[in-house]
Amino acid sequence: IKGNFVFHNNVEIPKIGFGTWQIPNDEAYDSVTMALKNGYTHIDTALAYKNEENVGKAIKEFDIAREDVFITSKLPAQTKGFDETLAAFNETITNLGVDYLDLYLIHAPWPWDEKGKDCTEGNIQSWKAMEQLYNEGKIRAIGVSNFEVKDLQAIIDNCDIIPMVNQIPFYVGRDQEELLEFCKKHNIVVEAYSPLATGELLDHSDIKKMAEKYDVTPAQLLIRYCLERETLPLPKSTHEERIIQNKQVDFKISDEDLKELKGFEDIRK
Ligand code: A2P
Repeated sequence: IKGNFVFHNNVEIPKIGFGTWQIPNDEAYDSVTMALKNGYTHIDTALAYKNEENVGKAIKEFDIAREDVFITSKLPAQTKGFDETLAAFNETITNLGVDYLDLYLIHAPWPWDEKGKDCTEGNIQSWKAMEQLYNEGKIRAIGVSNFEVKDLQAIIDNCDIIPMVNQIPFYVGRDQEELLEFCKKHNIVVEAYSPLATGELLDHSDIKKMAEKYDVTPAQLLIRYCLERETLPLPKSTHEERIIQNKQVDFKISDEDLKELKGFEDIRK
């Protein structure tokens, strides 16, 4: 699939990204090289994934200009505050070996081990640091991840720049309608991580049956679903045939089948 989503600052982002969560540093070089070789131009990593070094190395050594690759990384969930954010950003660009990022996200509104904690003030301070980096031209777009409506609202009410992205877990059965609506209203692009429900939906009999009908694999159906819902899928794989397959999603899901998929229960709940 080709084409871009456009942020509210007019920066464009390729419609499918290569996710690297859970790809260890020693496999990241090969996986990212395979992705680039097979036409992915959008790579998603994070300081917390501990693979930025080899993600960066793969991009650097591949025959592609820096401006032709869209690189996203993330501020660790536990890192809140203005100076802390500037320091983490520097660590990330050093790891990656780049002098700017295309997109930088607050990884989560709360530290992973304190899920749900109110970190509003810390998020606002981090966001202000990200606005500064953005205004200095060190980041082309800024956003958040795992934010709920109330977390987004706090940024919108207290800061200058509305996030360009919210990256959330999104897959068949986990539609997050209210959040999707809110993001649409504010021109925030929704990126779908775990579009295959980390693999758990691939063996679902209804998904298999529907995929057969379109002559695609379950993974392709699930990735296409994200696009039909105007979210940006970030599938992850370390296998080349899957990496290739996950990008070949140029088909339409019928309204009737979309309706059926929208009615799914969350398999991971
Ligand atoms: P692997 O990396 O071994 O290929 P998600 O993107 O929702 O996080 O799901 C990722 C999981 O799905 C990984 O376990 C990955 O395994 C697997 N996976 C990714 N693409 C495919 C595919 N096309 N067919 C089957 N499994 C896939």
